[in-house]
Amino acid sequence: MKKSFLALGVAALLLGNVSVWAAEYDLKANMQKLHSELNAIQTGFILGDKNAVSASLDIFAKDAKELLGEREGIIKKLPEDMKNKKHKANIATESARTIDFNAGIIKEAIANPKGLSNTKRREQAQVAYLNIVNACFACHNVVRDKEVAVEK
Ligand code: HEC
Repeated sequence: MKKSFLALGVAALLLGNVSVWAAEYDLKANMQKLHSELNAIQTGFILGDKNAVSASLDIFAKDAKELLGEREGIIKKLPEDMKNKKHKANIATESARTIDFNAGIIKEAIANPKGLSNTKRREQAQVAYLNIVNACFACHNVVRDKEVAVEK
């Protein structure tokens, strides 16, 4: 189990350099990177390893904010021929906010400044993690999946 977590970490590191690729691959490569970082968080949850969750979360939250948080940047990264990019960029920044907020909840659950029970902390952190996954879906449902269906 430890090994596969490490392998994911290495994959995330390797993918860390892909943003220098050609512009048209930029979004896709960054998405793969986010996905791999999100998987590392999930692995931490599944293993019940809060240090792993915490370490992966820091990397993921920073990259998600960088990739999705800046509206103009997202407009540039969306495929050339995509329609309603401004609206889609708004969804992306909304997702970035949701991700940021829920990353904060997970961090607080780990630090536990209010002295909550372990059950309560775990529940809060797990719900927050699922909210993050939903934020990915929210954008994909509107931005990606329709377009992909039309393209193919
Ligand atoms: C802008 C809204 C938006 C948000 C928010 C978003 N994505 Fe994406 N995602 C896209 C688009 C657009 C594509 C298609 C990119 C392409 O194929 O060029 C994509 C594609 C992907 C892919 C497929 C890459 C491939 O190899 O084809 C993965 C994996 C992915 N996203 C993961 C995630 C994860 C994980 C999150 C949440 C942390 C997330 N995405 C949030 C818009 C978004």
